[in-house]
Amino acid sequence: MAEFVLPRNSRIRKGKTFPAPAGAKRVKTFRVYRWDPESGENPRIDTYDIDLDNCGPMVLDALIHIKNDIDSTLTFRRSCREGICGSCAMTIDGMNTLACTKPIDEIRGKVKVYPLPHMHVVKDLVPDLNHIYAQYTSIKPWLQTETAPPPDVERPQSPEERAKLDGLYECILCFCCSTSCPSYWWNADRYLGPAILLQAYRWLADSRDEATGERLDDLEDPFRLYRCHTIMNCTKTCPKGLNPGRAIGEIKKMIMARTE
Ligand code: SF4
Ligand code: SF4
Ligand code: FES
Repeated sequence: MAEFVLPRNSRIRKGKTFPAPAGAKRVKTFRVYRWDPESGENPRIDTYDIDLDNCGPMVLDALIHIKNDIDSTLTFRRSCREGICGSCAMTIDGMNTLACTKPIDEIRGKVKVYPLPHMHVVKDLVPDLNHIYAQYTSIKPWLQTETAPPPDVERPQSPEERAKLDGLYECILCFCCSTSCPSYWWNADRYLGPAILLQAYRWLADSRDEATGERLDDLEDPFRLYRCHTIMNCTKTCPKGLNPGRAIGEIKKMIMARTE
């Protein structure tokens, strides 16, 4: 499995150590990236020795245990704690994944926890998602139509048409894929990256949408789409088992088909 490079502000120093409580029998060490922009100091790695008998089975449970019982200054995002909201995405044991669905006992040795790589960090484990959400807005992620809907019913879709959205609608916008993509690391200012391109394909694949031509015009660009070099880190890391690399390939095929 690919190990990702450290976040951009990576002159990391040794941080504090929080030993396990006396009498702890199942101790696991967590090494967690910390950075407070208001401190004016470089990032550091804090070490927490946790008694696993005092926390739940997932990495997110350990982070919540740290925040509630050991060090309330630790900052991270989470909401649903069941792999639905995408907000707890981070780099755990060298892979981008969701803290709430990553079992602690799958990790051998110390558990290393960093924010998603190659993103600006707001604080500790919280990446700045403003830019990637602006990219998401740019693909107009909503149904675009010109014709009026049938009276008194929703726009119909056959089961076959609906099935074309499988593998796309499940995306939770966690951005594990985009932040594992080397092309996105180096060209995030102009390349849309796998998460946003999978979303773009989700609307291209929707039989009800009537803006296919405009959507393809907008994507046909050496940077927005064609910075994908089929490295497939995105697909390897997606915690929902989706295949953004394939979705990007489908967009390229649609563009080629209209030039033939
Ligand atoms: S397949 Fe494309 S989008 Fe996915 S990691 Fe590779 S270059 Fe990035
Ligand atoms: S494709 Fe997977 S990794 Fe990428 S944003 Fe969607 S759910 Fe997350
Ligand atoms: S807390 Fe929602 S996906 Fe992890």
